[in-house]
Amino acid sequence: MKITDDEASETNAGLGRGRVFRAARLDRFGPHYFSSLNERAARLRREGTSVIRLDIGSPDMPPPPFVIVSLTQSAAQAGNHGYQTHFALPELRAAWADMYRRMHGAALDPDTEVVPLLGTKEGIFHLSLAVLDPGDIALVPDPGYATYAAGTIFAGAEPYEYPLNPNRGYLPDWKSIPSEILERARTLWLNYPHNPTGSVASPEFLAEAVDFARRRRLLLIHDAAYSQIVFDGYRAPSIMEIPGAKEVAVEFNSLSKSHNMAGWRVGVAVGNSDVLAALKTLKTQADSGHFRPILEAATAALNGDPAWIAERNEVYRRRRDLLVEGLRAIGLPAARPLASLYVWSPVPAGCSSTDWASRLLERTGVSVAPGSVFGRGGEGFVRISLTARDADIDEALRRIEKFL
Ligand SMILES: Cc1ncc(COP(=O)(O)O)c(C=O)c1O
Repeated sequence: MKITDDEASETNAGLGRGRVFRAARLDRFGPHYFSSLNERAARLRREGTSVIRLDIGSPDMPPPPFVIVSLTQSAAQAGNHGYQTHFALPELRAAWADMYRRMHGAALDPDTEVVPLLGTKEGIFHLSLAVLDPGDIALVPDPGYATYAAGTIFAGAEPYEYPLNPNRGYLPDWKSIPSEILERARTLWLNYPHNPTGSVASPEFLAEAVDFARRRRLLLIHDAAYSQIVFDGYRAPSIMEIPGAKEVAVEFNSLSKSHNMAGWRVGVAVGNSDVLAALKTLKTQADSGHFRPILEAATAALNGDPAWIAERNEVYRRRRDLLVEGLRAIGLPAARPLASLYVWSPVPAGCSSTDWASRLLERTGVSVAPGSVFGRGGEGFVRISLTARDADIDEALRRIEKFL
């Protein structure tokens, strides 16, 4: 049916009469940086620039072949397309528990201490809704992954951004958090290996964090999304290795980076069963589980040969060295990360990180993420991702050098 212009404007007037269909809490959020960047990159490509994307953390390589086989075989089964029971599959939960036992010597009950997620971002966002009340405070890292603060704000609580400084290896200084903030704080977020700086934490630091959380009666939430992207023999510890951690902590993990499965949306929350029970209650209202072939393929990924991960990490290691050495050679003294997908590189003196990233993109087609996107503490740096081929990294370095 064709609607005339008059009818259309009447309909809109009816919908809009004195009403705004947008919640006030959205006013706390501007446009998502990476969505606007996608549009900018698309425009430059239309104008003929060859854009090299070193800004996002989406793995460019495919998942293990046996995972794809599992997905396609399972998708071909007529009975695998309906709703799954919540928190399916038992085999997937067991595979996560097994991974934690193998890699971290941690014992987890697959029924009460493992919750499958639609990607960790979903769990990170929903956990705040499940455990925070208005007036509560969440301690979030600055710089850090934005969803810790976003979930907090949607829960009606307030994020307090605790600073991470290069001179402390981007580890928090508990003493810097004012006591009146600590009084109201309910959750403490940590993320190591760290996005965006690539810094890492020792088991001793994690033990200190567990002790701090216990003394201050905080829920400690560790985001270990990058725990399997490691180099030079480094092993990323889990909070679940720390004795007594389960009394005060939960941890997030994901197949997005570990198995190049970012688009599949497979994550997990493990740890304290009371906290996970709250998260499950919320999730039973908010979602209806995942697609069974993805759950089966995720189980295959976790049970697969870990040699695949080691070989893939070798590719990232080579890219990291290429990038770090190339940056140093042109006067940008980047640190060499032991883990994660990112090189954290200082911007030239006198530039803000957004100016530098923006001019670099417009003038050379090389796209990096400004540090300030991850919080005020990220100013002065850009995050450069290892998710591009050697040839693209080489070409990006050549263009940056010329631009400098
Ligand atoms: C620190 C951190 N946590 C969580 C996520 C989200 O991962 P997922 O794909 O599992 O939702 C990301 C994604 O980049 C991240 O950088």
